[in-house]
Amino acid sequence: MKTFPDGFLWGAATSAYQIEGSPLADGAGPSIWHRFTHTPGATELGHTGDVACDHYRRWESDVDLMGELGLQSYRFSLSWGRVLPEGRGRVNEKGLDFYRRLVDRLLERGIRPNVTLYHWDLPAALDDEGGWLHPDAPEWFADYAQVAFDAFADRVPMWATLNEPWVSVDGGYLHGAHAPGRKGVANAATAARHLLLAHGAAVERYRGSGAKHAIGIVVNLEPKDAASDRTEDVAAAARAHTYFNEQFCDPLLLGRIPDGLDAIYGEGWRAWTAAELARASAKIDFLGINYYTRALTRFEPAHAPVCDARVLPEGALRMTTGWEFYPEGLTRTLCWVKERYGDLPLYVTENGGAFADPPTAADGRVDDPLRVRCYRENLRACLAALERGVDLRGYYAWSLMDNLEWSAGFSQRFGLVHVDFDTQVRTIKESGKFYREVIRTNGASLA
Ligand code: BGC
Repeated sequence: MKTFPDGFLWGAATSAYQIEGSPLADGAGPSIWHRFTHTPGATELGHTGDVACDHYRRWESDVDLMGELGLQSYRFSLSWGRVLPEGRGRVNEKGLDFYRRLVDRLLERGIRPNVTLYHWDLPAALDDEGGWLHPDAPEWFADYAQVAFDAFADRVPMWATLNEPWVSVDGGYLHGAHAPGRKGVANAATAARHLLLAHGAAVERYRGSGAKHAIGIVVNLEPKDAASDRTEDVAAAARAHTYFNEQFCDPLLLGRIPDGLDAIYGEGWRAWTAAELARASAKIDFLGINYYTRALTRFEPAHAPVCDARVLPEGALRMTTGWEFYPEGLTRTLCWVKERYGDLPLYVTENGGAFADPPTAADGRVDDPLRVRCYRENLRACLAALERGVDLRGYYAWSLMDNLEWSAGFSQRFGLVHVDFDTQVRTIKESGKFYREVIRTNGASLA
């Protein structure tokens, strides 16, 4: 069996609003997620990020925990509103200091920081001006990125501009289940354009700043398989593939708009200019891929404009999120990227699963065999992709610890580390110990 190459990077990931808590501390400005979770009825359970994992105050012991797990890298995001409370203009040094201290401590421990600039928590002040729909949004983002680069580009070896722009667009601007809860095809098409231009503008700033490390972007990808050979299911799966997988990757990596995307957006569509495409396709150093499941797709006219619905194959193991556990999809996704976009350094920047964990046992164990199976099989799927020549350079488990799963609140546990949200006690799960052994042996323990 193929083994992981020397120097393969092992890490775990989190994001700011999901773990930090104290969202308004030390002069931070509220984000759209703060506002959304505090809007009655916007999320099902009404859970907020006011405390979350209290990482803003417990970050030092959390870095110790990362050391205990043997992590070589830690992927986290900056809260834009901590750095720039109004989203632009005035810099909040106290907010920047939080991240400066975190970066320094990680480096002291030999853990490489992998910083994502935007994991969905736009400053609310910018949303008041239209958020991602505003034509200046790309420049607002580039200015914010510049502040972060000036503060620690010399010490952060890996940067990602955006996390999963597809989710920002689909959840935040098309269907409204995510902050800021806007709806409509024209909104979605505009937000997608501005996110891609923001990414390109930030990459330009990074290059211009003389920074010598790597910058990329993180996208979420998954195979879209037709649930049957009925023409409408096959067509729905094809549309879903264009909308989900190609919508962002094609402009980023090929400098073009995928065929059929204009038809999906219909009257909400406006053609891209050559200059916009050139900006969105600024050269990146790596692509981060988040993978959780595949979508077995059937035609569902109520889900306009893509008209797709997920079905679960009989007998499939499903996560508590309702997603199918489908590790082959990770191999397929990585191979699809190589085939369509050619060779570029890839990282799995998120992968894992939500499963119901038992309560912590008297001896302190949290036995989570499904999550162990999830990691084992997904990591074997990575090996299968490496065997097929995919240039995969690293892997990040989602997530370091249980956290706020956005609109689903604390109902979904993805952590390698169990968090008791009443006491904030952290307990390394059996999956965490399993992953520690994978890291220690560079994957040989999977054999
Ligand atoms: C996101 C995470 C999220 C995870 C599980 C990804 O879409 O980047 O923030 O918690 O998947 O749903």
